[in-house]
Parts: sequence; structure tokens; C-alpha cells
Amino acid sequence: MARETAFTCSDCGLQSAKWHGRCPGCEAWNTLVEERLPTPASGAKGRRGGSGGSHGRERRPTLAARPLREVGARPVERLSTGIGELDRVLGGGLVPGSLVLLGGSPGIGKSTLTNMALGHLQGSGQRTLYVSGEESAEQVRLRAERLGAGALRVPIIAETDLDTVLDAIAAEAPAACVIDSVQTLNCGELSGAPGSVGQVREVASRIMELAKARGTAVILVGHVTKEGALAGPRVLEHLVDCVLQFEGERERPYRELRALKNRFGSTNEAGLFEMRQGGLVEVLDASARFVGEATRAPGSVVLAAMEGSRPLLVEVQALVAPSELEQPRRVVSGLDRNRLALVLAILARHGRVGTGGADVFVNVVGGVRVDEPGCDLAVALAVASAARGVPLEGTPRACFGELGLTGELRWVGHPERRLEEAAKHGCDGVIAPVGSGSGAREAKTLREALALALPQGAGRLAQAAA
Ligand code: TYD
Ligand code: MG
Repeated sequence: MARETAFTCSDCGLQSAKWHGRCPGCEAWNTLVEERLPTPASGAKGRRGGSGGSHGRERRPTLAARPLREVGARPVERLSTGIGELDRVLGGGLVPGSLVLLGGSPGIGKSTLTNMALGHLQGSGQRTLYVSGEESAEQVRLRAERLGAGALRVPIIAETDLDTVLDAIAAEAPAACVIDSVQTLNCGELSGAPGSVGQVREVASRIMELAKARGTAVILVGHVTKEGALAGPRVLEHLVDCVLQFEGERERPYRELRALKNRFGSTNEAGLFEMRQGGLVEVLDASARFVGEATRAPGSVVLAAMEGSRPLLVEVQALVAPSELEQPRRVVSGLDRNRLALVLAILARHGRVGTGGADVFVNVVGGVRVDEPGCDLAVALAVASAARGVPLEGTPRACFGELGLTGELRWVGHPERRLEEAAKHGCDGVIAPVGSGSGAREAKTLREALALALPQGAGRLAQAAA
């Protein structure tokens, strides 16, 4: 059955039989994407459905709307992947018939994670299938050997032709299937190269049709380059049920799994892993490790952060050094860059800690990312301590809180859980906003927080050093 294709402008929606570099409709460059046209039969049906209602030629029964409370809500059954952190980020496991997009830069561990998950599922009696378009079956086997016996039980096909893959999924009827990666599959009816926007969209929607019909849970692996240059996976975000992002620095062992979108769970959750010789290992004692490794030197502070529903203690380090550049450097890792600029401005204006002529580096140790407003105070204290060259009093000193533009310290969510976690790991006297509860050393403003954290006379010391 030959299907026709056409080129559609992703900006204005214009359709054209030919490809143009510049859209004849809206004159935008490189917006035309090749797409498969519906077959004549389904197209006709689609059009009737589209013009819809009683105006169509066929009379259809009128659909009666009903209040939401009368809609039966079946509990979603889940497949446990056997990896606690992955299950938690998914919202309790894989949902049958759902499509999960797992993105991340090359080498981060996507194939390792998915292979391990399928291994556990296969071991628990579920049918699984691993489709490798990227590596040969032998290469995947070599990895699986490192991961153990479970991973070696997973059935694999190494194939890039979409129709062949769909046939194999239909024949194997797995409960869970991994496509590694979505960018390598090729739909022969489209002329675009594998990985192009049109191809990736087509591949994902054909797999989705099959997955929904068969109740197969599918994990689509997708590469995202640092620059986001590969358009592939991003165009799928609206199509899939769940988007997971696997992050971390290749050179460091820690990996973080986050949900950016989840139709079946929260998007706040994050899971922490460590890449070891035998695959990915869940890190369950992250706070203890990070506090244990904290340097307690000038510029070091412990942040009592929230990772979704879970408290996590991480060390934030800062370095402030005289700059030789006209525009001093502001380098952050693990934090939002704009947030640093804001905190530096607040520090200068309300904390009398100026960093105008200095390079400022701020780093969350371990390659972890903290994306939450509660990190402001930690950045401020770390920079102040680094700028003055004195360690914070009573280190490891933990803190949390958001900074307002007028220098006030603002309340952030779950103070009691942050304090509890800090106390558990030997950080007493946590500096926190007013209203955080007993056990915290509360401060109303950045000035008060600085006075609590820095030893008396730190200001004079800094002046002497300068
Ligand atoms: P991989 O899962 O192939 O990454 P991706 O699919 O995201 O490209 O993993 C890549 C890295 O992980 C590779 O550099 C080797 C390392 N690794 C380990 O350190 N231990 C292991 O047990 C495995 C399987 C991989
Ligand atoms: Mg891979």
C-alpha cells in the first residue's frame, strides 16, 4: 500500500508537494517537514469526522457529556522496572500502552538504564524486546555482560527499518519495549534522513499506534546534544506521555534522572544514580555522601534542597578571584546562571559583598543540578564566604531560602523536611527564613543571615586582606 507524502511548514501549516528551502507561504527558512499523507480511505473518514456533527452525510448518534465524577477511573496498573529510582520518577512504574521518551546526551547511560530495566522485567516474567538501531546485537551483548545475567535474558533485534521493527513488536508482543534510539529508525516512505524531524515524528507516531493498540509500554531513547541542535526528540514531547531527561557529566559518576513531563505522575521527582563497573547503581544515601565530602573551607556551604518530594543535602562551592577581564566571568554549574546574577546583585546591594571586579565561580558538587528557589541563600553565603576568605561559622553550615529583590529572605516549601534531613546528617543550626520552624536559626533578611553565618569581624579581615 503506497502512501503519499507531502511537505508541511511547521510555522504556517502550508502544504506543498515539493520541498522548498523557504516556505512559499510565510517565507520562513527551513521549516518544511516531510510528512506521510493519510491513505485515501482513512483520509475520507478523517475529513468526514473533521467537518463533523450533523452537517456530515452520515448521521451519527449525538454524544452525551457527563459530569467528571461519573467517569469511572480505573487505577492505572504499572509494570515495575525493578529500579526503584526509575519507578519513582515514572510515578510508580511503567504504564502499559504508554510512550516514554528518555533523552540525554550520548554516553550518559541511556542504553545501560533501559537494558537493566528490561532485564528486571524479563526476570519477573514479563515479555520484553530491545530494538537497537544504533549498536549491533554483539555490541549490546557486550554491555549486557557487564550488567549481569538478567540483562542477558532480554530478546534483541538490531534493525533500523521501521516496518520491520513494527512487525517484530507485533510478533513478539512484549509488555515492555525499548527503541534505542528513535533517531536511527527509518521510515522508507519518507525521503528525509533518519533523525530528521519528519522521520522522527513518523516513527514515533507509528510506534505509538501499535503500542496503544497492544498495551505495550514503550521507551523511546533519544539523543539530545548539548546545543539542542538535533531537532529529533524535542518535537516528540507533545506526543509522548512522559519525557525523562538523563543528566550528568560524563566524567563524573553521578547521573540524575528527571521527569520533564508525566501524564501519570509528578514532574518534580528526580532519581540519582552512580555509574559503576556493573552498571547504574541507585544512590540512596546522597545527603550523607555530599555532607561527608563537604570541604568546610571558605566558599563552602551545605544547601538543604528539595528534589521533588525528597530532601537532599548538597554542597555548594564558590570561588571569588580578582579578574583580569573587562567583563568578569560568572561561571555556574548545577544552578541557573541568571539566578547567580540576581544573587550577586542582591549581595552587593543588601549584603555589602561586592564582586564587581572579580570572577565568580559557583558549583554544586558532584555534578548534581538543583533547580529550586531555595538555593539562593546557599549561593549568597558561599560567595560571601569566598569573597571574605573565611569559612562559615560552625561548618558544615546548612541553609536554605529564597532571596527577594529587597534583600528579604523568603519562605520556601517543605522547611520541616529540609531541617529533618539536615539534623539527620549532623548539620545543626540551619539558617532558614522566618516561619521554617523550630530547629532553624531564622533570619528575616540577607543581612541577618550573613551575620549569623560569618564569624564576627569577617568584614574587617577582608578589608585587611584587600
Ligand atoms: P551507555 O548506556 O552506552 O550510554 P548512552 O546509551 O546514553 O550513550 O553508557 C555509556 C557509558 O557508561 C560508557 O562510557 C561506559 C559506561 N559504563 C560503565 O561505566 N559501566 C557499565 O557497567 C556500563 C554498561 C557502561
Ligand atoms: Mg546508547
